[in-house]
Amino acid sequence: MVIVESINNMKNEMKTCKEKGLSIGLVPTMGCLHAGHMSLIKKAREENDIVVVSIFVNPTQFGPNEDFDRYPRTREKDLEVCRANNCDFVFLPQSDEMYPEDFLTFVEVEDLGKVLCGISRPTHFRGVTTILTKLFNITKANRAYFGQKDAQQLIIVKKMVEDLNMDIEIIGCPTVREDDGLALSSRNTYLNDEERKDGLLLYKSLTLAKDLILNGEKDAGVIKKEIENTINSGKNTSIDYIEIVNNKTLKPVLKVEDNILIALAVNVGNTRLIDNIFIDLG
Ligand code: PAJ
Repeated sequence: MVIVESINNMKNEMKTCKEKGLSIGLVPTMGCLHAGHMSLIKKAREENDIVVVSIFVNPTQFGPNEDFDRYPRTREKDLEVCRANNCDFVFLPQSDEMYPEDFLTFVEVEDLGKVLCGISRPTHFRGVTTILTKLFNITKANRAYFGQKDAQQLIIVKKMVEDLNMDIEIIGCPTVREDDGLALSSRNTYLNDEERKDGLLLYKSLTLAKDLILNGEKDAGVIKKEIENTINSGKNTSIDYIEIVNNKTLKPVLKVEDNILIALAVNVGNTRLIDNIFIDLG
């Protein structure tokens, strides 16, 4: 496994792979790797000759009062995980090379980045799409792998690739959960025992909503109220949003008839957790 820190070295390594006709699968991450990330690496391993994992805590996707400084950085452990999962390259770019002082260019997918998480994190998705554009350009990957855990991110990245004619295939992979349903997240490391219990209410409320829908409930208002009651039964929970939206346009639906995404963000203590479920009625 080759560890690369400079952009030029990464470009050269990738150029050599391309000249040999090898396909490249990229798994972009911010590190603190867990089984969710590993599921993406595994899928990339199955579908490509070369697997690249990038690890970069991207400053432009954090708001001024968010957790950029305390975001967990576990470089050595992450490298072990990559090695154990047969990655070929780990790209660990330096922040001052990715964003030099004279950096001016941002990529923004309008509308889709303004709803759901975009309301409380207005600059988040333009940071994500900007760093991903850079990573796609640097690695020239054929495919890139993303988790459905971050459903809005996945939908926005697909739209960016479509709109800007990028030569890369975006592959969405299912959310990996703990046995008790909690979606794996690097931010779970912030939770104490009591908060972790409250964290379980996210998935519990989503499964409850799914059951309601499968039993014929169509009124989005009724379903949202049930989710709200479940989340509010926690001691440390404060709802950011609960939304039922079309799974491509992210526009809210009043009646559940189409393919939908139920997405929620909840502050548990000081930790913001997100979760979602896609329901395919097509
Ligand atoms: P990060 O939060 O490290 O996540 C990297 C990838 O792992 C994302 O595609 C995310 O959806 C996926 N992932 C996280 N938890 C998961 C889970 N429980 N099951 C399945 N997949 C999971 O998302 C980012 O980093 C950044 O925004 C990034 C795309 C790297 C841009 O900076």
